Amino acid sequence: MRMVDIIIKKRNGEALSEEEISFIVDGYVKGDIPDYQMSALLMAIYFRGMNLEETINLTRKMAYSGKVLDLSGIPGIKVDKHSTGGVGDKTTLVFAPLIASMGYPVAKMSGRSLGHTGGTIDKLESIPGFKTSMKDEEFIKQVKEIGIAIVGQTEDLVPADKKIYALRDVTGTVDSIPLIASSVMSKKIASGSDVIILDVKVGKGAFIKDINSARELAKIMVGIGKGFGKRIVAVLSQMDQPLGFAVGNSLEIVEAIETLKGGGPKDLKELIVTLGVETLKLIGDYKNEDEAKDKILEHLNSGKALLKFREMVKAQGGDVKIIDDYSPLLNAKVQKEIYSLEGGYVEDIDAHKVALSVMALGAGRDKKEDKIDLSVGIRLYKKVGDKIEKNEPIVTFYANEVERLKKAQEIFKEAIKIGNKKKDPLPIVLDIIS
Ligand code: URA
Repeated sequence: MRMVDIIIKKRNGEALSEEEISFIVDGYVKGDIPDYQMSALLMAIYFRGMNLEETINLTRKMAYSGKVLDLSGIPGIKVDKHSTGGVGDKTTLVFAPLIASMGYPVAKMSGRSLGHTGGTIDKLESIPGFKTSMKDEEFIKQVKEIGIAIVGQTEDLVPADKKIYALRDVTGTVDSIPLIASSVMSKKIASGSDVIILDVKVGKGAFIKDINSARELAKIMVGIGKGFGKRIVAVLSQMDQPLGFAVGNSLEIVEAIETLKGGGPKDLKELIVTLGVETLKLIGDYKNEDEAKDKILEHLNSGKALLKFREMVKAQGGDVKIIDDYSPLLNAKVQKEIYSLEGGYVEDIDAHKVALSVMALGAGRDKKEDKIDLSVGIRLYKKVGDKIEKNEPIVTFYANEVERLKKAQEIFKEAIKIGNKKKDPLPIVLDIIS
């Protein structure tokens, strides 16, 4: 078999066989297939797509390209969650302890920020001392003992995705439905949980910009999950504006803790409740949606979910004092509040541009090896549809360098539109695919 023939086949719009997909994944992981040939193939897939059978074969081959976690030693129904990537997306930080506090083990391997989207692991690392890497045995032991662990993906889990994703990121081939589906689902299958909740982000700040493509992606991922015997659901959620008010690693930890204390932004809370209800429906322990929702709200409002978060922070070596005193998380040198020059209504807060502004402060990566500043970011005061008075605060910038702050402010100006038209608030949950 020759890689060039496979590239030509896909370039011409033909479907690849299981053998050809095996050849590609094995060859690329081993280093026999060079980046330039893999890049050409990824671009051909980007334009020509893949049918369901090819996507399933690619997912399976990637999932088993490294070690597959065996969680069978942990009693109970194990839950995992994945977001396709957003701006201000701190959902896992609330969702995981919430579900674990109800007695369902959450064994979660998360990613770092890449491109303009944030990553849970970077956010957690802004908690002083918090350890995000551990051996598989330690990870399983912690989930057994306290019902939750959130760690970075180990090197030997889905090495094919690590290599292919890094190449997609620099070849303009991230936003391809079969490539996203196989990337996400290979990791979920290798991570070994029984129940999988997918949060498919749609909008300006997401990889998928339109609802029809998001539905197609969700249906494919749900289909793949079911094919592997998983209980799975996908929630499509709006990512035209950032989720919640905080964007930036340590600031998002604060917002997540506020939500675990029963407060937090309305959109974040609504999304978490929806994801929670869908999880409980898959598990099947509650009579109906109302009962499931009541249970979730009770765990958020009574502090039970917060207690689970506290246990996790302690178990992973983090400083639990930050839960009661946020000051170590709000320690950027400069905090600059910006006020509205006019009164009116907020018509747009472009999540992608907000992300670029926060990246200009130093909170994100352009390349995998870039170091990021965990203490910088922004806190918004308004959402789309809100009324704003002249001289009311719109945003606070948390910065460590004046030059970066200037650049971030310039970009942010383009992100927000204030006008005379009263706009309806943006719905957060757009669809559910099961
Ligand atoms: N998240 C992933 O894990 N993979 C993708 O391809 C896109 C988002």
